[in-house]
Amino acid sequence: RDVLCVVGARPNYMKIAPIHASLTASSRFRPRLVHTGQHYDPEMNDAFFADLGLPRPDVNLEVGSASHAVQTAEVMKRFEPVLMAAHRPVVLVVGDVNSTIACALVAAKLGVPVIHVEAGLRSYDRTMPEEINRVLTDQISDLLFTTERQAAGNLAREGVDGSKVHFVGNVMIDSLRRNLERAVPAAQTIAACGHTIPERFALATLHRPSNVDDPMVLERLLDCLARIGERLPVVFPLHPRTRARVEAAELSHRLQWPVLPLGPVGYLPILGLMSKAALVLTDSGGIQEETTALGVPCLTLRDNTERPITIDQGTNTLVGRDPARILAAAFEVLDNGGKAGKIPEYWDGHASDRIVAIMESVL
Ligand code: UD1
Repeated sequence: RDVLCVVGARPNYMKIAPIHASLTASSRFRPRLVHTGQHYDPEMNDAFFADLGLPRPDVNLEVGSASHAVQTAEVMKRFEPVLMAAHRPVVLVVGDVNSTIACALVAAKLGVPVIHVEAGLRSYDRTMPEEINRVLTDQISDLLFTTERQAAGNLAREGVDGSKVHFVGNVMIDSLRRNLERAVPAAQTIAACGHTIPERFALATLHRPSNVDDPMVLERLLDCLARIGERLPVVFPLHPRTRARVEAAELSHRLQWPVLPLGPVGYLPILGLMSKAALVLTDSGGIQEETTALGVPCLTLRDNTERPITIDQGTNTLVGRDPARILAAAFEVLDNGGKAGKIPEYWDGHASDRIVAIMESVL
């Protein structure tokens, strides 16, 4: 039967790639790749497909950017006829972006089984659009695959029937393990942007509305990067949203040595940068997990995380947005090394095979 694998935004591609490969190897399923077009810039898209060996999408809904309501509604309108034309379909969604809830909702209304990969993560912060997407998607999913054991408790508290929930590990780490050998060396990525390689560098990524939309908050965070830059250069690939906010706030002059601004970088380059960084500062969800898998110290510039295992077992520390706290934590890592972490259970490169084995037995 057809398994419509939905991708919309950058963090989806590395989750779908290993699942798509495992489904292709199964005789029971025919994977169909549906790209909603939520992210559309070549650097947010094409580079990732090439790096991950993902085939061209079978369908592209080309929704583009808009308000949350318009973007979600457009995905729904355009996905419904695609789903109705599929053969005994199942819809598989990953993560927590607007495309995830939009396609899950269309499927649930048509009585089509919904599979949610990376279910049960909770920040318990409903001001995050992703939290709303997570809670709602889990409520209407028929099969829920989790990355950490704690997620099952979150789902149980929300009344999700435990028989639908399976702990399988982390598909994003499947991608990491498969691709690490092919990572583009950090020196090459930095040189391509016109800089010579600093031996020791920090890596920063910021894109959450809570960090970049308010010019005062953004300015304080850029100041922090400059202060850390006094100790070692800070490589800073910019998400389109962040670049736009920096320009609108007239803060472009802050993006200068020892802060090295880059455009959005592809998957193999970011793996190379992450694995060689002395320290990573981020507000991303995926990077918290990838640094834990790589054993690289990570400071998360948020007040909460939906991925507590990266704190309890991994190399991640939550530091919020207060400059004094961020700098103290950064200098602690640089002076004394970061937390020693361990690799969480089932983050072993085989999560996608477990998912497909379970799908074969229950669908
Ligand atoms: C989305 C996800 C977020 C994820 C992030 C990773 C939701 C609610 N949020 O946030 O969970 O961490 O992707 O990147 O789905 N833009 C471009 N080119 C693009 C894509 C976006 O210029 O290819 C611009 C848009 O015009 C918009 C901004 O970036 O101004 C935000 O894009 P959008 O997809 O709405 O949300 P993200 O902030 O990227």
